[in-house]
Amino acid sequence: MPLNTQITGWGMSLPVGIRTNDDLAKLVDTSDEWIQARTGIRERRVAGEGESTLSLATAAGQQAMERAGVTAEEIDMILVATITPDYGFPAVANLVQDALGARNAAALDINAACTGFISGLAIAHGLIQSRQSRMVLLIGAETMSRIVDWADRATCVLFGDGAGAVVLQAGDGKGGVASTMLGSDGAGAGLLYQPGKDGSRPGCDPASGMNLLVMDGREVYKFAVRTTARASRETLDRAGLSVEDVDLFIPHQANVRIIDAAVKQLELDPEKVFTNVEHYGNTSAASVPMALCEAVEAGLVQPGDRVLMVAFGGGLSWGGALVNWSG
Ligand code: ACO
Repeated sequence: MPLNTQITGWGMSLPVGIRTNDDLAKLVDTSDEWIQARTGIRERRVAGEGESTLSLATAAGQQAMERAGVTAEEIDMILVATITPDYGFPAVANLVQDALGARNAAALDINAACTGFISGLAIAHGLIQSRQSRMVLLIGAETMSRIVDWADRATCVLFGDGAGAVVLQAGDGKGGVASTMLGSDGAGAGLLYQPGKDGSRPGCDPASGMNLLVMDGREVYKFAVRTTARASRETLDRAGLSVEDVDLFIPHQANVRIIDAAVKQLELDPEKVFTNVEHYGNTSAASVPMALCEAVEAGLVQPGDRVLMVAFGGGLSWGGALVNWSG
C-alpha cells in the first residue's frame, strides 16, 4: 500500500515590530506610493531584540504541532528552510529540535532561498513515501531584515521576517501531496545572492560589509514570472491535472505584479489566488507556509480542495507542489 503525505497541522509566527512604507521613506529615498505601485507591499514585520529565525521557527513549529494534536517526541524529522539561520552552523533545525524537546527527531536546514519550503515539502514527501520518516515538522523561517541593506532602496523595501510551519504525516494513500517538482539554474546565481559572512570563500569578510543581499531586480522579475507559470504547469502535469482543476493557488509572496503577471499567463481565475504580501513583504522561505496557514484559518481551504503552491528564488531555484487538502 503506497503511503501518502498528509498536512495535519499548520502554524505561523511573526515578529512584533511592524515597519510601514512611510517608516522606510524616513530611511531611504522612496515613498509609500512607489512601493505599493511596484510591489503591492504596505508593511512588513521586522525582528527586534530577542527575536531570531530560531525563535520564530520554534513558535510556528509549536503551533503546527498543537493543531495536529501531536507531541514533540512523535516528530522524527525536523526540516527548516531558511537562508537566515542563527549561525553558519549548527543548523537552526538542531536548535529548534532542542527548543521543542523533539528528542527523537533528526534535524537539518534546507538552503534554497524562497523555494525552500517547497523543496522541504518534496524532500519530506520522499522521506515519507520511502518509509524513512512517519512524521515531519517542516518549517520555513526567515529574518531577512538581518541581511538586507537598509541603505539600498531597491531591496530593503521588499523583504520581511516571519515563520510558517506544517506537520506532515504518513497517511493511507487518500489525499495529501499529489505531486511536487523542483528546478535549478545555477548559472543565474549572480542575480540574487548574499556574499555572506558565513561563506568560506576568501573575501567574504563581514568587516568589508559584503554580507548583505544583492539583487538584480529586473532580471529576477522576468525569471519570476516565467518560472511561476512554468513550475505551475509542470506540477499540475505531474498530478494529471490542468489549471481549471486548481481550487486555490498559493504563489510565493514576492510582489503582487509578479503574481498578477504569472496568473495572467496561466489563464487562472484571479479569484482563486491567495495573497498576503501587502502585510508581510517577501519573507522568503516563510512566505508559502505563512500564506497557507492564513488561507486555512480564513476558511479558504476545504477538504477535497486542490491547492497549488509554487515558489522561486535565489539559486536560481524554483518548485511546485499540488496538495489534495484533507484537513
Ligand atoms: N523607491 C523609489 N524608487 C525606486 C525604488 C524605491 N524603493 N527602488 C528603485 N527605484 C527606482 C530605480 O532607481 C529606478 O530609477 P531610474 O529609472 O532613475 O534608474 C526606477 O525606480 C525603476 O527601477 P526598476 O528596477 O526598473 O523598477 P521595477 O519596476 O523593475 O521594480 C522591483 C523594482 C520591485 C525590485 C522589481 O524589479 C521586482 O519585483 N523584482 C523581483 C524582486 C524579487 O521578487 N526578489 C525576490 C526573489 S525571491 C528570493 O529568493 C529572495
